[in-house]
Amino acid sequence: MKFCVAAFLFLAFFCHGSFSCPALCKCYPTSVEVVCSEVPLTEYPSAGLPENTTMLTIQLTNITSISEHHLKATPLLKELHLYGNQLQSLSSHLLRGVPQLHTLDLTGNELSDLPVDVFGDAPLRNLVLKNNQIKRADPKWLPHNSSLTWLDLSENHLTEIPVDLLQRLPHLENIDLSNNRLEKMPPNSLDHLTKLERLNLQNNKLETLDASVFQFTHNLTSLLLSQNKLAKLPQYLFQGLARLTHLSLDDNQLSRIPKGFLDSLSSLEIILTGNPWECDGKMEYLWRWLTNHRQNVLFETEVTCDNPKALKNRQVSSLTDSQLGPC
Ligand SMILES: *[C@@H]1O[C@H](CO)[C@@H](O)[C@H](O)[C@H]1NC(C)=O
Ligand SMILES: *[C@@H]1O[C@H](CO)[C@@H](O)[C@H](O)[C@H]1NC(C)=O
Ligand SMILES: *[C@@H]1O[C@H](CO)[C@@H](O)[C@H](O)[C@H]1NC(C)=O
Ligand SMILES: *[C@@H]1O[C@H](CO)[C@@H](O)[C@H](O)[C@H]1NC(C)=O
Repeated sequence: MKFCVAAFLFLAFFCHGSFSCPALCKCYPTSVEVVCSEVPLTEYPSAGLPENTTMLTIQLTNITSISEHHLKATPLLKELHLYGNQLQSLSSHLLRGVPQLHTLDLTGNELSDLPVDVFGDAPLRNLVLKNNQIKRADPKWLPHNSSLTWLDLSENHLTEIPVDLLQRLPHLENIDLSNNRLEKMPPNSLDHLTKLERLNLQNNKLETLDASVFQFTHNLTSLLLSQNKLAKLPQYLFQGLARLTHLSLDDNQLSRIPKGFLDSLSSLEIILTGNPWECDGKMEYLWRWLTNHRQNVLFETEVTCDNPKALKNRQVSSLTDSQLGPC
């Protein structure tokens, strides 16, 4: 009898073990995917996760922390999606037990301070920290020569982006720093990012950009600078950016652009609306450029003069030679 009970327990455990799935989650054994969505979880469901899980989604739950020990339960994990939980803390060396993890999405949590080495140990390519409470980005979160190609730090409270952090990311192709409080981009901050294709700096507090900031980012195709406080930009800022196809400068404080400013850009889509353009003789370069590149300018009719008063709200490209006055 005792033997039967033991055998039963053993079988029960064994069967449970082989077809296990955490309570409240859905497991898809053929695709080795597990999804725990909008369920009253308060802790990471390590127990019961199939060991061969490669894709795990835990979203809209009440879990508040994750550690290295939690992730060790699924050593084959490649993608971890943790959108919209209540995560406040991650452990140092979080990814030590998941050597194949390439995608980590932490969008919409409560993360603020993260420990050093938190994102080392795995060959991460995509890291999304969008919409958290991060005030300071620490270079030591990531290893030197990190394999990241996509980093999203948008919708946080960053006032600066450390040069040392960006220097660790030579493989980066896409970085989103929009919707923060960045006041400047340090002059050489992008020098190591020679593969960079998309840079989003929309909705920050940038007042200007250093003339050399884009000197090595020849592969940039999309540069979004709208909703900042840019008032003045250096003449040769975009000189090396022959591949640029999207440039947004709308909703800034630009009243003039320097002569030759857009000359190196050919197959471009550009937005210039929402700036207080000064329509005097020095406007001739922009006026001529707009007139010759109508097909490149989005919302061209909304590129209007702010000054002088007599020309307020006039479409820049509709001005006549005499209205522009002497140079
Ligand atoms: C994953 O492991 C479970 C048993 O835990 C098994 O049923 C399933 O077939 C495995 N899936 C793959 C794709 O190997
Ligand atoms: C998370 O906790 C809050 C407050 O206790 C509760 O109202 C909410 O339903 C919980 N969310 C889930 C998905 O269980
Ligand atoms: C950087 O990492 C890449 C692969 O991600 C590797 O090929 C290269 O050798 C590394 N460079 C250095 C200096 O470690
Ligand atoms: C720039 O892009 C081209 C075409 O996509 C690619 O062949 C080249 O290797 C890239 N340059 C760098 C430095 O990544």
